[in-house]
This record gives sequence, structure tokens and C-alpha cells, in this order.
Amino acid sequence: MCGIVGYAGARPALGIVLDGLRRLEYRGYDSAGVAVINSGLLSCKRSGKLTNLDKALAELSANGGDGGLVTGTTGIGHTRWATHGPPTDRNAHPHQSTNGRIAVIHNGIIENFATLRAELEAAGVEFASDTDTECVAHMLAAELTALEEGSPHQAPAPAGVPASGTVPNKGPLLGVSFEEGSPVQAEHVSRVPSSKPGEVLAEAMRRVCRRLEGAFTLLVVDKEAPGVVVGARRDSPLVVGRGEDGNYLASDVSAFIAHTREAVELGQDQVVTITADAVEITDFRGEPAAGRDFHVDWDATAAEKGGYDYFMLKEIAEQPRAVADTLRGRLSDTGQIMLDEVRVSEQDLRDVDKIFIVACGTAYHAGLVAKYAIEHWTRIPCEVELASEFRYRDPVLDRTTMVVAISQSGETMDTLMALRHAKEQHARVLAICNTNGSTIPRESDAVLYTHAGPEIAVASTKAFLTQLIACYLVGLHLAQVRGIMYADEVATIVSQLQEMPGKVDSVLDVMEPVRQLGRELAGSPSVLFIGRHVGYPVALEGALKLKELAYMHAEGFAAGELKHGPIALIDNGTPVVCVVPSPVGRSVLHDKIVSNLQEVRARGARTIVIAEEGDEAVAAYADHLVRVPRTPTLLAPLVTTVPLQVLACEIASARGHDVDQPRNLAKSVTVE
Ligand code: AGP
Repeated sequence: MCGIVGYAGARPALGIVLDGLRRLEYRGYDSAGVAVINSGLLSCKRSGKLTNLDKALAELSANGGDGGLVTGTTGIGHTRWATHGPPTDRNAHPHQSTNGRIAVIHNGIIENFATLRAELEAAGVEFASDTDTECVAHMLAAELTALEEGSPHQAPAPAGVPASGTVPNKGPLLGVSFEEGSPVQAEHVSRVPSSKPGEVLAEAMRRVCRRLEGAFTLLVVDKEAPGVVVGARRDSPLVVGRGEDGNYLASDVSAFIAHTREAVELGQDQVVTITADAVEITDFRGEPAAGRDFHVDWDATAAEKGGYDYFMLKEIAEQPRAVADTLRGRLSDTGQIMLDEVRVSEQDLRDVDKIFIVACGTAYHAGLVAKYAIEHWTRIPCEVELASEFRYRDPVLDRTTMVVAISQSGETMDTLMALRHAKEQHARVLAICNTNGSTIPRESDAVLYTHAGPEIAVASTKAFLTQLIACYLVGLHLAQVRGIMYADEVATIVSQLQEMPGKVDSVLDVMEPVRQLGRELAGSPSVLFIGRHVGYPVALEGALKLKELAYMHAEGFAAGELKHGPIALIDNGTPVVCVVPSPVGRSVLHDKIVSNLQEVRARGARTIVIAEEGDEAVAAYADHLVRVPRTPTLLAPLVTTVPLQVLACEIASARGHDVDQPRNLAKSVTVE
């Protein structure tokens, strides 16, 4: 997620904003920028780290060109985690309107930006970047013009983008009048702003927000409104800091905690206007609204982790939103998959007759889960290979082979070398990646980005769940394009996917017993994990988490393999985690794993059973029973993995380890 900071007050804004951005650096980013109002709008932005921005600002100042950047008392700043468009200077935020009057920064994904951009370009707007955010800058400028011309009506929506709840006038927007009959809904005369500072800008923001789809936190400054910052949010965080000598806006409190601990959390679909001595909140229609006041009792370091002890815990907690964000904009209202961003023609997709998934570690486990779904939905043979082994076994690849390279960092050398080998064999390579602009997507033929946001902890958690989502989307898209699945069948699974963020959230609500169990198991020499079907890769992932976090021997097995050797490992009290398939989905598998539970229990194992609500058959064989919501068989790893993440984290913490930075490990393994 991007970092966002705003300030309006009595002190110079630049230093405050830059300090706030530094406190948000932990979130991960690939470019940064600031804008300050001081008898004009002054802005500076650079790709890369904040040091690049600092250097550019220093050069500006040394050449006397900062024009008052350093003294202006109204400002905004942004650290960008690229989603639309690579991390370059031109794509860094803030983005300005063509007339240079306003600057806007954004965190989130504007789902309808392609429509907005096309219509704005058709109306003569020339874009300076590849981003979705720049649409907002141009729309805000148009609304300011419409408002200052005294129009009580919203500027006409670009045709095809219903201005929900408004009656677009027929007047020109950007010099072009829109055709009659654009979608018109209930009359809504926008509040013609009073003369209060920032009221015009706030009304312009409200009008624009009513036209945006997707998740967004926006901040805007206007050189015609010095002393004012206006913000807005939907499905993306924004908090207000009430200070003695000014007010603050930020994506989280760590940006301003050094200045004030009195905060206001904004609610859904709210617009906030801050000046040096006032904070005003409305809804998107201009009606007064209230945020939630709270006192921040974290210290600055804790605040970076959102109050969690470790980034890993924060990232585990972010999984519902990460799953929702990765689905966002890729599911149509009619339940179809929309992957236009994956630049592979439908004919090429129809020609695919073999799929290889190549990845490492957790990403490899995501591929193992994906295999079950992709083969079931598409009937295309799908092999999953450890990237470090793939090219050395001389795999059979050709032009009708699709190789899917899964990587959170996009820099894993083993995976990069595997995809290079695949391309040499003329296979088509699709990357599934969480880091925009990294090497693996850049060298692939196509990419489907996960939107987990930066994953700081070395142990991968939210990236894993979003990799599963991305693989499900690819599988359904293939089945849809090849006609293997009917539209209603795809729509059924799409509606199941849309329930998953809530189901993951409900698992997170019942994790205290798992944390308690982790503290009890902290002294165990070893833990075994068993599962069947998609539960088998989950068992492998649970074992990996424990190995890399607790430095404890852990091993995952296909439950059916126990009798072929591993059951000899079972001793009195050996902890065995068992991932139970749904009794509804594949009852034959469920019955077999109940037998496995009986077998290990009979030999003294301490069984920790992950089973869905309502599955009573396993209760008799569970020393610890962890319930997850009932979930379709192929989607179950989205909920059954979460308790294993929490268990490993708690055991590592109980052992006194550095949970976020385990020994010997790096977040991105850029060597073979
Ligand atoms: C997972 O918890 C580990 N950090 C590691 O196995 C990781 O998944 C693997 O190195 C692959 O990294 P990537 O997804 O960035 O390619």
C-alpha cells in the first residue's frame, strides 16, 4: 500500500511531510513525491527511495529553484507502491491537473480508470503518466471549473461513466459537450459551496468521488486554496491527526505520531477538509459526518506495525483486504472473469495444451494448490515444478506450453532462470507477482499482479493467499475462454471467491486458542503436518512456516503416505497437525483422513485438527480442534492456511526469535 501524508498548519509543511513519509517507508514503495502550496503549487517527485527525492529537493534548493517549497505551510506527500504503471519519475505521485492548479496523491485502485481515461483523452486531455490517479487530477480540475462558473450541477460525467446520483448538465467539460442521454439518475444538485476555506475544493472532491469505482484514499491541494488539504476515502485507510499547530492526514498514524496522538479515523465514503485550526468531515453527498476519535497509545515504532508486535502479524491481519484487493476489478457484475490486463490473446489461451507452474518456497506451495483447481476447471495437464529444478531436468516445452512463474518479490533468481529457460523453448510465460516493475514480470510475456501490498516479513503470508486468488482467476479465465466451463458455472465460483475475504476474516477472529497452543508447543522438538488433496500443499506450507520461523524440525506429508514410512516418526505426544478436507466436497477423502487421524492417535500423537464448521466426525480424534468456515473444496486453502501461519508465528515468538527477520533468510533470494 502507498504511504500518504498531508499537513495544513502554521509550520513549514515540507519537513513534516517528508518525516511522515520516512515513518511510512516500512510499507515498502518504489517512488516518492511531495507538493507544497506557497504562493503557487510546487512539486517534486522521483522514482526509487526517499533519498532520491531528498537529493532532488536539495538540488532545487541549492539552485534557488525551490520557489518556497521549504517554507509553504500546506503540503502533501506520497510513497508509491506501483500498481498501474512502472515505478518511474513520471508515474510517481503527486499528479497535477493540466493547468497546474492542483496536485493529488492516491492509495488504492480505481477500477473504472480505463473508461475515465479514455473519455478524458477523447475530450482532449493529454496524460503525463500511466497511472489511474492522474484521471482524478483532471476530473478535479474540471469540477473546480464547473463550480467556479457557478454551476450547481456536477460537470457531466464522461459518457459511459454514470455520475451516480447526479444530473450531469449539458454544458461543456474540458471544452467538449457530452452527447445527450448519458446515464442519468436521480436529480442531485451538488451543494454550491459557501465561502469557507476549501469548500469549493471539498465539493469538487465529493463530485469526483461519486464517479470513482474501486478502493481509494485521495489527498488534494489547490494553489487557489492555500492552507487547505482535502482528503477522501473508500475501502482504503485515512486518519486525521489533530495537532496544536496544525492538522494532519495520513494512511496511518505512524506518519504524524511524533506531532500528535489525537486522531480521527474516517469512515467509508467520507471527505475531510483540514486547515490549520479546523477539521470538517462530510459524506460524498456533502452531508455533515463524523469520524471516530481515538487517542494513539502506541509509540512510533509500534505504530509502523499498526500496533502489532511484528509485521508478520500485521500482514496476517491484512489478508482479508489483500484477497479483496486482488479480486477487485477482475470479476464482472455477471460473474465472469475479466483479465484484460493479462496480455495473452484468447486464441493463444485456447491453444495452450500444457501448463507448468514454476516457483520457490511458499510460492511453490501456491502452485501446488493451483494445480488441483486449474486441472479440475480447464482439463489442461498442469505440472508444478520447483524453479531450481525445472531447467535442469530438461522439461518438454513448446509454443503451446504456458509457464506460470509465481513470485512475490519478482526477483527470485531460481524462478527468473526457470522462466528464461522456458522462453528459450518458446513457451509463453505468465508471471503472477506482487511487485510491480520487478524483473520477473518484466521478462515475462504477461503478468497478473497480486495486490497484497508490500510484504515486509520474510515469512510470506498475505502474498500466499493472493497468489492462490491469482491462480484461481487464471484457471477460471482459461476455462471460460476455452468454453470448458459454462458462464453460470464460472459465476458460481466467482460468487464463492467474493465470500472469501469475509471467511478469512472470520478465521482471524478465533485465533486466540491457536496462539495459546503455539505457546504450549514452543518446546516441541518437531511438528508433523498432514493433509490430502489441496490440504497436502497446505500441510507443506504449514511446515515451511514453522521451519523458517521457529527453526524447528517440521515436515508436511500427504496423509496417504503415512503408512509408507512417516508413521514411524509418531511417538507419544508427537504433535501432528491435520488439515481435514470438507466432508461435503470430497467425502471419500474426508473418511480417509479420519482414518489417518485414528492411526496417528493410536500411536500417541497429539492431534491438532483444522476442520470446517459442522464436521463432527473428527472431534473424537482431535486433541485441539480449530474450526474454519465451510468453504468449497478447491478454495479451502484460503482459510485452512491461516491457523498454521498464526501457530508458527506464536511458536517463534515464544522461542524469542525475530519473527520478521528469521536467521539465515532474506525476503528476496536473488542468487541461485
Ligand atoms: C516463504 O515464507 C519464504 N519467505 C520463501 O519460501 C519465499 O516464498 C520464496 O523465497 C519465494 O519468494 P518469491 O515469492 O519472492 O519468489
